[in-house]
Amino acid sequence: MTVQDEPNPLRDPSDRRLPRVAGPCALVLFGVTGDLARKKLMPAIYDLANRGLLPPTFGLVGFARRDWEDQDFAQIVKDSVREHARTPFREDVWDQLSDGIRFVTGELTDPESYAELARALGELDRARGTNGNHAFYLSIPPGLFPVVVDHLRTSGLADTDEGAWRRVIVEKPFGHNLKSAQELNAIVNEVFPPGSIFRIDHYLGKETVQNLLAVRFANTMFEPIWNNKYVDHVQITMAEDIGIGSRAGYYDGIGAARDVIQNHLLQLMALTAMEEPVTFSADQIRMEKEKVFSAVVLPDDLGVHSVRGQYSQGWQGGHQVKGYLEEDGIPEDSKTDTYAAIKLEIDSRRWAGVPFYLRTGKRLGRRVTEIAVIFKRAPHLPFSVTDTGELGSNALVIRVQPDEGITIKFGSKVPGTQMEVRDVTMDFAYGDSFTESSPEAYERLILDVLLGEPPLFPRHVEVESSWEILDPILNYWATHGNPESYPAGTWGPTAADDMLAIDGRSWRRP
Ligand code: BG6
Repeated sequence: MTVQDEPNPLRDPSDRRLPRVAGPCALVLFGVTGDLARKKLMPAIYDLANRGLLPPTFGLVGFARRDWEDQDFAQIVKDSVREHARTPFREDVWDQLSDGIRFVTGELTDPESYAELARALGELDRARGTNGNHAFYLSIPPGLFPVVVDHLRTSGLADTDEGAWRRVIVEKPFGHNLKSAQELNAIVNEVFPPGSIFRIDHYLGKETVQNLLAVRFANTMFEPIWNNKYVDHVQITMAEDIGIGSRAGYYDGIGAARDVIQNHLLQLMALTAMEEPVTFSADQIRMEKEKVFSAVVLPDDLGVHSVRGQYSQGWQGGHQVKGYLEEDGIPEDSKTDTYAAIKLEIDSRRWAGVPFYLRTGKRLGRRVTEIAVIFKRAPHLPFSVTDTGELGSNALVIRVQPDEGITIKFGSKVPGTQMEVRDVTMDFAYGDSFTESSPEAYERLILDVLLGEPPLFPRHVEVESSWEILDPILNYWATHGNPESYPAGTWGPTAADDMLAIDGRSWRRP
């Protein structure tokens, strides 16, 4: 081998120390006037540019009904970046990014608007060299997905030119039940090949969620006890202290179970429960998650083992806050759930008999998302009952957010002349172990779309399976009573405590 033939470590694509930089491309944003675009998507695009992960020729095209010029849209992006970006504002980065910003005034239902969009993309391709590589981000109300996807087809925007790619990014909710999810999948699958469809579940873009797989499969000490021999039950919590804010139009009629359990919490459950994938390829990871979904069984008595609630007036952070029914835009007789808790089991050799409790809610005691694996008590304690009076169960808690990290809870002797055993914790905190702050979920996910890397995006089978799990619960709720009210700032309806008490367990108070 001559010196020139030696592999250059700086060119090795599998070298994880090298940043993954997207190639020439343009991203079209439908829904630029929405909250998500302003608070998350535009800032994430800037943060990627600031980290040097977007090509210098990157193009960003906004599409909306507004009568804006390119520079008006660029100003909107700039304002959102200044307000919400994670990384500091740099004029040089902004100048380069804003050169590639275009705006198309259009109606989602009007064919001529898509012709206009095609012209704008053609101009970008020529002026910036985006090479016909276009991603379409549908951050729009779900009812409009079919219309837009269909227009992308008829206008030719979904057709790939030689050597170029076209991708579509679909925001949740992906349907409102199994049937509508299937219909939507059929429509999208007809226009884009499976490898070009990216369904967003932003929880999968979170560092702490990806770390769950690293913790489980890069170590030896957790897997041997990660099963029904040692685990008593698992609690997955996503609690929010905020109410619905200005999202009445989206939230009412959807509710907590559809908004969060169907996607984020079932995904967290699948990652916690799945077997080790053969490799970390998209296909292998998704296949293992799908096996978990297909093994889920619901309790027979949903009246006892599922709970929904709705927040009423209460106190949060020293302020009095409105109840759900008093929020702007909410009908006074709305039955929408702002809290949901369910119990399910996974019929597999590893998990048979281990309940998974999932709960989420708005206006709860505090904002916290965690996965708590609670272990069985030691079969025999050679101490007196009073020695261990304050000893709880061992637990491993993955702190998804905020205060990202992992806690292990176990018993330890209290120093002194007596044998008193009490719970203590051992903590790993991202802030203590790593100097770099974690990227936002949307940074990771947008970059993966532009690179065409699908492992962090649920396949249509996963989406449909998770609706299959949730549908019976939603149908049961639709015909049995109303959500129980809980005061804002508390930990949800009392029925949720009863749901665990029946099983001789209680919720963690994180
Ligand atoms: C979204 C839900 O998917 O997740 C919102 O639609 C919720 O209702 C949000 O507030 C929470 O996201 P995060 O990343 O702040 O936990």
